[in-house]
Amino acid sequence: MTDIRFDGQVAIVTGAGNGLGRAHALLLAARGAEVVVNDLGGSVVGEGSDAGPAEAVAQEIRAAGGEAVPDGHSVATADGGEALVRAALDTYGRLDVVVNNAGIIRDAPFAEQTDDLLDPVLAVHLKGAFHVTRPAWIAMREQGYGRIVLTTSATGLLGTEDKSNYSAAKAGIVGLTRTLALEGAAHGIKANAVAPSAATRMLAGSMPDEAATRQMTPDEAAMMAAITERLDPALVSPVVAFLAHESCPVNGEVYTAGAGGVARYFTARTRGWFHPQLSVEDVRDHLAEIRDETGYTVPTHPGEDIAQLLGAVLADPTPG
Ligand code: NAI
Repeated sequence: MTDIRFDGQVAIVTGAGNGLGRAHALLLAARGAEVVVNDLGGSVVGEGSDAGPAEAVAQEIRAAGGEAVPDGHSVATADGGEALVRAALDTYGRLDVVVNNAGIIRDAPFAEQTDDLLDPVLAVHLKGAFHVTRPAWIAMREQGYGRIVLTTSATGLLGTEDKSNYSAAKAGIVGLTRTLALEGAAHGIKANAVAPSAATRMLAGSMPDEAATRQMTPDEAAMMAAITERLDPALVSPVVAFLAHESCPVNGEVYTAGAGGVARYFTARTRGWFHPQLSVEDVRDHLAEIRDETGYTVPTHPGEDIAQLLGAVLADPTPG
């Protein structure tokens, strides 16, 4: 088998000045892509801006013999996303890959999730994916080819205390991924998502205050250092690069990746329970069957969900 390469292809990686995005950009460039290294350069909670991180990563790529340009636009606005895509097209003449990775956190218990915490998190993660992907999509549709990788999170898939803003944004990204996959199929565009785990400044910023500030015992500190070392962001990037490659066979899927592990997440439907005149007591009395995971299916489209429902209806044609 030949190596997976991106020669002649152009990639945008958002939030590539630090952490995971930096690792993705370095790998794509090492495999031959021309990379637009986007990063606003603000803090982990999204305050301020600094051209330095994007410039440093672009410089690192060039120093290693690769090709990259920095870009400091914010993905949080439609104008920023347009300008970023325009920069890629103006500099390199085409656009094959978008890795939506930029992110911030603003944690608080749900009762304290006021708009100043909610809006910026939705703007960077969820609307940011729209702002960058939409202009990219238009260019990709014209060339009949594109790969979109989006970044969700275990928090978006499963929930985490004090992260209602972030989990809602990250769950929204899963819905977006699935719809992009369906709409893109006719145009040679595929969209998949990654749910990473990596030791970055964001992960450090996600630690509960008590855990972050408490004095650790030497054993705890050693264990934390060992875990941190294993959670190298570069171990997430192979999954991103695979999903970004022309040979990627999957579309609309979600992969969790970290420390060298990779697995698939999916939405499943139980076989459930049916009665033509369902009552509230039926739901109570048959909850175990409704929840039973034996024989679940993995519908790929709402039509398949409806088909299963209709299957149950048609199997029992005599209501009452
Ligand atoms: P990070 O804080 O190291 O990197 C995020 C980058 O995004 C920063 O360089 C930041 O400047 C940039 N950024 C923020 N707002 C921006 C904007 N408006 N426009 C352009 N760039 C912007 O964090 P990390 O951990 O590398 O996060 C990368 C992605 O992975 C995020 O989407 C995050 O939610 C996601 N993630 C990370 C996990 C982890 O374990 N580190 C777990 C689950 C998801």
